[in-house]
Amino acid sequence: MPDTSNTPTSPLDQAFRAAMRRLAATVTVLSARDAEGRRCGMTATAVTSVSAEPPALLACVNRSAALHAHLGLGQSFCINLLHTGQQPVSDIFSGGAEGPARFATGAWQDDAEAVPYLLDAQANIFCAVEAIHAYGTHGIFIGRVLRVLCQGNIAPLVYQDGRYMRTQPLDQP
Ligand SMILES: Cc1cc2nc3c(=O)[nH]c(=O)nc-3n(C[C@H](O)[C@H](O)[C@H](O)COP(=O)(O)O)c2cc1C
Repeated sequence: MPDTSNTPTSPLDQAFRAAMRRLAATVTVLSARDAEGRRCGMTATAVTSVSAEPPALLACVNRSAALHAHLGLGQSFCINLLHTGQQPVSDIFSGGAEGPARFATGAWQDDAEAVPYLLDAQANIFCAVEAIHAYGTHGIFIGRVLRVLCQGNIAPLVYQDGRYMRTQPLDQP
């Protein structure tokens, strides 16, 4: 059996982190309500499409993140895809503020189920948690898509190499 043990500073860990810096991803904010009815949310790039039929996505949330405890089975939440003008929202939702105070940054509204969503995001993907898989440091939350809103031109805020970026077509120098 190969030794798959790892420590935070091992060569494998460093190589993994170096590779992840090359995995460009659209920045999202996951938003929901906690059991007490308070708004909660966090910045996440570990979000990807899982299935077309039924439409579903997954989001990987660190067990140390406050949101992890608030996303239970059946819980409604929203995946807000940020555009290039929304870096301040990403900064706030990744530690720039704490708890419900995060929602003072950005044009947040509540849907009919009181799920907070970012009004001028690229897209709002409303989901219900349909499955949760624990793996290592993270929880993998499968969100069954219930409703989608899209607005504006496609100009996603992208995170790559520890920096915010924008996309550009290869055929435009
Ligand atoms: C661009 C970016 C992407 C991130 N993606 C994730 C992610 O996919 N999953 C995750 O658990 N944390 C991610 N984080 C870290 C969390 O946003 C951050 O730890 C947040 O403060 C956790 O929420 P909390 O402070 O309420 O516990 C990301 C941070 C940044 C800046």
